Formats: sequence, structure tokens, C-alpha cells
Amino acid sequence: MKALRHLNKYFWKYRFRFVLGLIFIFTSNIFGLYPPIYIGEVFNIISDAFGNKNSLDETNSALIKNQLAYYAFLVLAFAVCKGLFMFFMRQTIIVMSRMIEYDLKNEIYNHYQKLSISFYKRNKTGDLMNRISEDVSRVRMFLGPAILYTSNLIISISLVIPKMISISPKLTLYVLSPLPLLVIAIYKVSSVMNKKSEIVQRQLSKLSSISQETFSGIRVIKSYTQEAFAQNQFMNAAEDYKTKNLSLVKVNALFFPLMILLIGLSTLFTIYIGGLEAIAGNIQVGHIATFVIYVNMLTWPVASLGWVTSIVQRAAASQERINEFLREDPEVKNNTTESTKIEGDIEFNQVSFTYSDTGIQALKNVSFSIKQGETLGIIGKIGSGKSTLAELLCRINDPNSGTISIGNKNIKELNLFDLRNAVGYVPQEAFLFSDTIYNNIAFGSHNSDDNTVYRAAKQAGIFENIMGFKRKFDTLIGERGITLSGGQKQRLSIARALIREPEFMLFDDCLSAVDVETEERILQNIKTESKNKSCIIISHRASSIKHADQIIVLKDGEIIEHGLHKTLMDLNGEYAQIFNKQLVEGKQ
Ligand SMILES: Nc1ncnc2c1ncn2[C@@H]1O[C@H](COP(=O)(O)OP(=O)(O)OP(=O)(O)O)[C@@H](O)[C@H]1O
Ligand SMILES: [Mg+2]
Repeated sequence: MKALRHLNKYFWKYRFRFVLGLIFIFTSNIFGLYPPIYIGEVFNIISDAFGNKNSLDETNSALIKNQLAYYAFLVLAFAVCKGLFMFFMRQTIIVMSRMIEYDLKNEIYNHYQKLSISFYKRNKTGDLMNRISEDVSRVRMFLGPAILYTSNLIISISLVIPKMISISPKLTLYVLSPLPLLVIAIYKVSSVMNKKSEIVQRQLSKLSSISQETFSGIRVIKSYTQEAFAQNQFMNAAEDYKTKNLSLVKVNALFFPLMILLIGLSTLFTIYIGGLEAIAGNIQVGHIATFVIYVNMLTWPVASLGWVTSIVQRAAASQERINEFLREDPEVKNNTTESTKIEGDIEFNQVSFTYSDTGIQALKNVSFSIKQGETLGIIGKIGSGKSTLAELLCRINDPNSGTISIGNKNIKELNLFDLRNAVGYVPQEAFLFSDTIYNNIAFGSHNSDDNTVYRAAKQAGIFENIMGFKRKFDTLIGERGITLSGGQKQRLSIARALIREPEFMLFDDCLSAVDVETEERILQNIKTESKNKSCIIISHRASSIKHADQIIVLKDGEIIEHGLHKTLMDLNGEYAQIFNKQLVEGKQ
């Protein structure tokens, strides 16, 4: 239950709406309080008028008809007013719950964006999505319906019960005694219902992840002719889903009949005991009618107490799951709010990094420096730590030991956002959004226009390609759009990095799917455009980096060779081996 305290700040934010809602609940209950009494009065009038006789005389009959019309009008007027205020109460409390839901979703989303990449590696995407949709909507059930019904219950109990006691304390005691039983029964049923619907929900997400995986892997499935296997897998999961759902439906079907049975029983009880009391002369006949209506008025909110309890439990569990993520601190923090200029030499000093989740040490005591405007080439076998090094420079991760500095300042002291803005990082895996080509390139910059987008596309050597598409820059990519080739994707993501005119270039093997000539042309473009800008080029191809001002060869996270192309060739070590091998294979 403690978890729900997180919501207090939102209650405070919407306090006026909340209090207004309570006032509306109170008012609607007041309007509900009197009609049962009027109806009771009507019964009394009729039973008094007839007395022991079987008929009425003319004058008496007209008088009674008037009285009845008067009470009928009152009952109607009160019902209309009650309805009106019920409308208002939903408009305030339920609307408040929707507003808090909106705020809470934004709060979570905002927090997600701050968290480091390692958080995303630890948690599944489905889980992140669930907390922002499924869990938040459970919390909303608490904020809206649960609060509404509970306040309604408290208010109606505190209004109706004193009224009942004022009529007959004894009858009140009798007719209210079965209510706790009702609460327990409804609580039990709704707990079972919730448990079952949770199971159904889990199975549903399993089903959707199976189909999602099938659709995204459809090429592999088709080329390995595994359609029947995929179909089977889906069918089994769907069968499971059906069985679980049917079992939920069974309990669901039980819920309302049970409720109506229990309410019917308490009505019966009221009439029986009320009848005995009226015969004994302790109450009037009309009071039985009043009590029947009151008991009906109370049973619904009281029965909903059982339902509300299970909603609150679920909401608390959901909020706890949400809090768990909200408590996560970003591992990479921005340590200054002031903006800092990012320029100067880049220096790695004894940098080591271990991935905490797998314990793999990806970099060991790596040191080098790049003068402003120089180009560094990095080469090394698969898994030698190249991408890790690139990620450390844009502070996607922070090193465990050693320092990275730019212009003699530790990058941890620089403004994180300025740093990331200054680095034109093209990651190893080109990721494009399902949007137009134009927007995908413009994404890189805050103030782009047609000219800058076209220029970036030209520099990245993809302009002609794009103009060849029917819709040119308006071509949609990805879902519902065209699928680009590997090389096109890579060049598009280079254009996205170039458009921001960064201070540094950081290319992580992002030309691997481009032929050697195009690669040379792109690198040449970039070099002439950014004369005074430092550049780090990571590649598996020795040809891409042979012109660099210095070359680093990484092996198992360590620098094993370092120098100019010529020096390394003379050394005749790992680099020379890679270069000669690729020369023979015709990769250069
Ligand atoms: N997110 C991660 N969590 C745990 N271990 C990782 C993670 N990313 C990489 N590693 C490990 O760190 C080591 C270095 O990986 P890295 O991606 O830096 O290699 P790389 O040189 O870029 O390889 P490639 O040439 O294939 O791109 C590898 O052993 C890899 O398994
Ligand atoms: Mg890599």
C-alpha cells in the first residue's frame, strides 16, 4: 500500500477537482436520501386511508390523488438532481484520474529517456511498455473508480444509516447484518477474477511477442521453410490463451448473478423482518418500503467494496513496479547545467571498461591522444572492444578506471548534452525510423532545411540514390515504406550525423556495406568539409584507415600496435597481416 504514496503529489496537484468531486458525491447522495422516505410516505398514506375499509369516498380520493402526485413529482425531481450530480461527480473524479494517468505516463516516459543504455539492456522492451500502459491503467482504476466508489460508500453509509436508525434501530441492525458477508463473497470472487485475468494478460503478451517475432523474422522463416513450425507455435499459444480465457469467463459469469442473488436475499430479509415489526406495531408499513430501497442503495456500494479492495491491491502492486523503475538512477549523469564548449585534443588515459552484466572486460588500459583535426583509425578483430571505445567517448557508458578528456577537461565534467551534440556518432548498426528519408536525415539537427538536408545527403554519397526513388526525399522507410539496402541505410545514417555539423566524427564500422570506391569518396568528402575536425574511423577494412594520421590495432581490449600505416607495415605484425590478407582477397 505504501507504493501508492507516490501518487500523493498528484492528488495535491488536482486537490480542487478532488474536493469538488467529493462535494458532488455528497450532494448526489443527499438527493438520493429522501425519495425512499417519500415512497414510504406514499405507502403510509394509502394504508392509512384505506384503514379497514375497501373503498374511499370522493373527497378523500381526490385529496389522496393530489398527495400522491406531489410525492411522485418530488421523487422525480430528486432523481433528476441526483443524476445531474452523479454526472458532475464522474466528470470531476474520473477526469482527475485520466489527468493523473496522463501525468504519470509522462513522468515514466521522461524518466525512461534519462536512463542509461545499460538499463535498456537489463530490461525487456515489453516490460518497459507494460509498465507505462498496463500498470498505469491499473493505477488509474484506483484513482478513478476505486476512489469514487469508496468515497461514495463512506458518504452514503454516513447519511443513510443514521436515517435508518432514526426510523427503527432494531430493523437497521437486522437488515445490515448480512452486508459484511456480501463484501467477503464479492472480494473472494473478484480476487479470483483478477488472478485469472492476470494469467490471461500474460498469455496475451506471450501471444503477441510470438507473432511479432514471426513477422520481423519472416525472411528467415520463409527461407528455412519453417512456416509450419511457426504456425504450430502460434496455434499452441493461442490454444492456451483460449483455455485461460474460458476459465476467466466462467468466473466472470458468476459475478453478477452472485451479486444479484445476495442483494435479493437482503431485500427478502428486510421485507420479512420489516413485516414482523409492522405487525408488532413497532413501525409503519411505509417504513418497510423505505428500508427496502435503503438496503438496495447500500448493498451496491458495500458489495463494490470487495471489488474495490482487489482493485487497490492490484494498483499497489502495479505502482510498486512503476516505482521500481522510477527509483533507477541514470548511471551516466550530466554533472553540469552550464553549457560547455567542446573542442581540443581528445585523450584516453589508461581507460578500462568491464560490462557489469556479463563481467566481460572489453577495454584494458587503453591510452592514446588525437590532436584537433587529426584522424584516428581503429582496427581489430570481432569483439576486440572497438564499439565499446566509441560508446565511452559519447558517454553512453562511463569507464571503470582511467580518464577520457577533451581539451584537457575530463568529459565527465563537460555538459553531457553538449558533448553528445558535438560528436557526430554513426553507430555500427544503422537504425532508421519509419518515416520519410527527409525526416530521417533532418532528425540529426535542430535547425535543418532543404539545403542542409540535401548537402548532408550529397556528402554521404546517397543523394543520387534518393533522387532515383519515385518519391525522392519523401520516400517512406521501414514499415509501410521501402526497405533500403544495407549500404543505403549506412549512408543515410552518415548523412544524419553530418547534418549536425559536429565537432568530431565517430564512425563505427559504418561503411562496411559500401564498396571500397564509394567509401573512399565519402571519406574524402568528409575530410575536405571538416578540415579542422577530429575524426575517429573504426573499420574492419585496412583500406578505410590507411590514410589516417595514426592507427590503433586492438586485440582483446588492448592496444597491440599503434602508429602510421607505414610504421605498422614495417612492423610486420597484426596490422600488416590484415592488410596483406585483404589485399590478396581483393577487398581494397
Ligand atoms: N552490452 C554489452 N554487454 C555485455 N558485453 C558486451 C556488450 N557489448 C559488447 N560486449 C562484449 O564486449 C566485448 C567487446 O565488444 P565490442 O562491441 O566493443 O567489440 P567490437 O570490436 O566493436 O566488435 P565488432 O567488430 O564485432 O563490432 C565483446 O566481448 C562483447 O561480447
Ligand atoms: Mg563493434
